[in-house]
Amino acid sequence: MSDGATARGSATEREEARKIAEGLEHLSGFGNEHSSEAVPGALPVGRNSPQRAPLGLYAEQLSGSAFTEPRAVNRRSWLYRIRPSAAHPAFTRTGNGALRSAPFTQTVPDPNRLRWNPLPDPAEGTDFLAGLWTLGGNGDVTQRTGMAVHLYHANASMRRVFSDADGELLIVPERGGLLLRTEFGLLHLEPGHIALIPRGVRFRVELLDETARGYVCENYGAPFQLPDLGPIGANGLANPRDFRAPVAAYEDVEGPVEVVNKYCGNLWTATYDHSPLDVVAWHGNHVPYAYDLRRFNVMGTISYDHPDPSIFTVLTSPSDTPGLAGVDFVVFAPRWLVGEDTFRPPYFHRNVMSEYMGLIEGAYDAKTAGEGGFVPGGGSLHTMMSAHGPDRETFDRASAAELKPQKIDDGLAFMFETRWPVSLTPQAARAEHLQQGYDDVWQGLERHFRPLH
Ligand SMILES: [Fe+2]
Repeated sequence: MSDGATARGSATEREEARKIAEGLEHLSGFGNEHSSEAVPGALPVGRNSPQRAPLGLYAEQLSGSAFTEPRAVNRRSWLYRIRPSAAHPAFTRTGNGALRSAPFTQTVPDPNRLRWNPLPDPAEGTDFLAGLWTLGGNGDVTQRTGMAVHLYHANASMRRVFSDADGELLIVPERGGLLLRTEFGLLHLEPGHIALIPRGVRFRVELLDETARGYVCENYGAPFQLPDLGPIGANGLANPRDFRAPVAAYEDVEGPVEVVNKYCGNLWTATYDHSPLDVVAWHGNHVPYAYDLRRFNVMGTISYDHPDPSIFTVLTSPSDTPGLAGVDFVVFAPRWLVGEDTFRPPYFHRNVMSEYMGLIEGAYDAKTAGEGGFVPGGGSLHTMMSAHGPDRETFDRASAAELKPQKIDDGLAFMFETRWPVSLTPQAARAEHLQQGYDDVWQGLERHFRPLH
């Protein structure tokens, strides 16, 4: 989109953004009631909507769940802002760039195992929004079900502001630091961190390095939550206190600001006469957050067998069937492998769920690394019931390995795992960076069967 060409991109601006990012304070916790004010006295005490809000601010509620949902899943925040969100002109359609939405019906669903190299370099002046490229997904934005897999590759900071009415955005940087300026305040992200922008929350992405590349899960369904821990107990996996929410910070900017709104699959634009990032204080439990995946408390076997990878779930979006996620976000983080008499990499399997995998750094223990393989910034799709598992080289190596304790510390991979098949966009099905011959990694798996009699 041409608007990207006006985005900020100088080294000085990046340095300034980095200085701000590295000095940020944050609030700690997941799903709890936070409160924050950028100016003392901005937050009303004892009520949400006084006759006159403090400091001449407007009070406004942002709902992340229906008013009537059970308390355990009810999400809302109260925002105290310079102007109410309602103060804006009409939106008009603008180009969608390479961003696509569910339902994904333009290609015939493909049962094949597929793998992509990283996105090609973006054109000069491509901001985060213009750099979004949709691989595929499932569900229907109008039904608030399903998800989309996007990748991004940007080389300019956004000047405009974006919000997504269709779903929450789970951002997974693979290359380049980001400063997210949201209505709730600022978040600093580096590769290895994730951030979540709730549905409808306005934000801008500024680059801390020359380029930024990564993945986005757009979740149309129920908001991501922490998985239950069951017999694991009260602690483990992603611990709530490691999630960072922003402290209130606002822009008092008069003048034209472009705001782009994704609504039912299309981008709409309006030019506001002020910045909508003008929230001076807020409280609530519906907030953007960030998390460092290296803080994930990895659980695994201390006896035998590789547990199902659901043990690595960071966040889950429940569906209407208990235990069956619309989408799970799963991380393969550094960990010790100690299983006795065990094939230690992830096993061969066929899954009723569909798995999109990405690589943030290093290598993944079920696949050989390197050019033409599973590389950082690339991705693989093993859709419903497709047979997959370690490649031939990994199988041979792991079957013969001496089973002493082994630390896997050279990689950070993740998975978006969804209950529905992932259908591709035409641009993903025909992409030049779609690898040819991915099936070959499972060729040459030799017959070892020797009947005893
Ligand atoms: Fe799998």
